[in-house]
Amino acid sequence: MNLDSFERLESEVRSYIRSFPVVFGRAVGTTLTDENGREYIDFFAGAGTLNYGHNNRHLKNALPNYVHGDGIIHGLDMATTAKQAFLETFEEVILKPRHMEYKLQFPGPTGANAVEAAMKLARLVKGRNTVMSFTRGFHGVTGGALAATANAHYRGAAVPPAIAHAGPQLRGRAAHAPSRAR
Ligand SMILES: Cc1ncc(COP(=O)(O)O)c(C=O)c1O
Repeated sequence: MNLDSFERLESEVRSYIRSFPVVFGRAVGTTLTDENGREYIDFFAGAGTLNYGHNNRHLKNALPNYVHGDGIIHGLDMATTAKQAFLETFEEVILKPRHMEYKLQFPGPTGANAVEAAMKLARLVKGRNTVMSFTRGFHGVTGGALAATANAHYRGAAVPPAIAHAGPQLRGRAAHAPSRAR
């Protein structure tokens, strides 16, 4: 198995490739196939994110149709027909049957984004700063998530930066306004 390119060109910040030193080429359902055609049962499943399996045929068909239909690929938090359909379906299938009057937030693509959003929201709503976390938990590798991760291995990897603010402190919208508007 030739991992030279990864060792030569990719940063040392590599985790799962060290646990699975294999070059994977294809994936279907619960099976990963390496570049030599050897098959593996994927108990890892994208750290639990692939709950429909690899290249689920329903998703596999929907995606090209969406792209060929010039569906919005990148909309930040703008309203799109795709997001509207997702929200309404989620409400019908998940929220209403469970009598949940919840709102959805789309914090970003990673688990750490969700952890950061949850910690910010909790501190904002409660007006308190202290977050309790349990030893040996893992919450991600972004600043806040790492601060809540009571695991020396991960915390040792990233010393929280000391931030020095340069220039005048601006508050609220003024901080985001183009310089000519200030
Ligand atoms: C419990 C838990 N929280 C948060 C995370 C961070 O997720 P991500 O790596 O997508 O940022 C993980 C990742 O494995 C996790 O297992």
